[in-house]
Amino acid sequence: MDYIIEMLHITKEFPGIIANDDITLQLKKGEIHALLGENGAGKSTLMSVLFGLYQPEKGIIKVRNKEEKITGPLDANDLGIGMVHQHFKLVENFTVLQNIVLGMETTKQGFLRMKEARKKVMELSEKYKLLVDPDALISDITVGMQQRVEILKMLYRDNEIMIFDEPTAVLTPQEIEELMQIMRDLVKEGKSILFITHKLNEIKAVADRCSVLRRGKYIGTVEVADTTPQEMSEMMVGRKVNLTIEKKSSEPKEVVLEVKDLTVEAKKEGHTKKLVQNASFQVRRGEIVCIAGIDGNGQTELVHAITGLSDMSAGAVTINGEDVTKKPIRYRSTHGLSHIPEDRHKHGLVLDYNLAYNLVLQQYFEKEFQSSRFLKNDSIYKYAEKLIQDYDIRSSEGPFTVTRSMSGGNQQKAIVAREVSKTPDILLAVQPTRGLDVGAIEYIHKQLVKQRDAGAAILLVSLELDEVMNLSDRILVMFEGEIVADLDPKAITVQELGLYMAGAKKGGELS
Ligand SMILES: Nc1ncnc2c1ncn2[C@@H]1O[C@H](COP(=O)(O)OP(=O)(O)O)[C@@H](O)[C@H]1O
Ligand SMILES: [Mg+2]
Repeated sequence: MDYIIEMLHITKEFPGIIANDDITLQLKKGEIHALLGENGAGKSTLMSVLFGLYQPEKGIIKVRNKEEKITGPLDANDLGIGMVHQHFKLVENFTVLQNIVLGMETTKQGFLRMKEARKKVMELSEKYKLLVDPDALISDITVGMQQRVEILKMLYRDNEIMIFDEPTAVLTPQEIEELMQIMRDLVKEGKSILFITHKLNEIKAVADRCSVLRRGKYIGTVEVADTTPQEMSEMMVGRKVNLTIEKKSSEPKEVVLEVKDLTVEAKKEGHTKKLVQNASFQVRRGEIVCIAGIDGNGQTELVHAITGLSDMSAGAVTINGEDVTKKPIRYRSTHGLSHIPEDRHKHGLVLDYNLAYNLVLQQYFEKEFQSSRFLKNDSIYKYAEKLIQDYDIRSSEGPFTVTRSMSGGNQQKAIVAREVSKTPDILLAVQPTRGLDVGAIEYIHKQLVKQRDAGAAILLVSLELDEVMNLSDRILVMFEGEIVADLDPKAITVQELGLYMAGAKKGGELS
């Protein structure tokens, strides 16, 4: 068999954990090979071993059938191996071109070299339809663009083996679609790709084969065409997973949240721009209303206005019939509003506090947890222990764990636990499953449906089309700051929803 890469029986340990335990991975030339596993399964570690960032304790690596010692990224590069890291490694205040050439420039005839480099970069970007402005600063371009720069960097170095570590976690649906196409073009030109993800639909869309890791161990490799998403997720999680969300049809009751003519304006370079324009809608008890849209169409500003994180220019927000437009964040939070925020590091958690304190972040001032300005630690830790149990929040030291050290999935579970345990009237969940693995997603979806059935009103803001279609009882589409459609998920297709999101279509029963 013609393998371009063989990682055989690789073991890599960190203090206290075997991140890779006897893992074998074989990459065929010209294939897209997915590496699937939940958070912490050992995927990035294995790829870092291949890229020379870590030395394994055991095992060997063969490149083009020859055993190689890869002692660093330079060795990897010499062998034609390139990697786009989970967190990009670009220099913010350099231009696109400078970043691509970085580390490859020669000192002599610097100017001429730069001219040649520019030519090569432009040719590559044309060939692979990776449109970039070579003179733009990295700090000025979108995340999707930055990713293209990373890909161009690999092409510029003539890398034949490309590792993509969770490349879609940060992209919009359109950008994901484009990346999939770019990957197909790359293999057509003879490149071989290792594609790390925990999204099964992406694997189905592009990968030829898929290897699965679970808790540091190798589970198996399958042909994607012959394997159902259900089977792959079972390999990944180690148990049956419910990919379809089970829920009864909704029975909406009284209105909890009402947003009326909400407008948010921003002044930029002397112009006033409407980020949210006259948004009006209601969310009732017992329904999940989803705001769908491509990232950056006013969802964040709308959410900030509803929660009180920032001001609105016009309009009103009422909760349970009470106008809270001028009320501060805490008032809304103690009067029925719970918020699972988009940015869990900025608005969701205090990363240097322990888990217990984070679990009472919205309630520590209540008399259950405080008397005469002293925190009642006994009650706080007892309460935390209960949430940790109920919501299956995993961490190394229970309530005493510093939240910064926890995995993304468990940080998110902590936020969900905190917000849901307040038994809110209206739960505003913003991209609650972003970047999470299947197990955690399933769990959070179940919680949202459970809250709905318990009588809460749920407003979900999501960029994930599957999530929007499967979870919501009603879909509001936001485009350029406006709510352009009010749709019944049972009556439309994903393709139609995509058209509304792209602004090509308007309609539904707009109130
Ligand atoms: N540099 C490191 N030091 C200590 N532990 C690490 C390090 N890198 C990863 N780990 C641990 O190894 C395990 C596998 O991590 P990782 O390879 O990043 O998983 P994945 O990419 O599949 O989410 C995790 O438990 C993680 O906490
Ligand atoms: Mg990783």
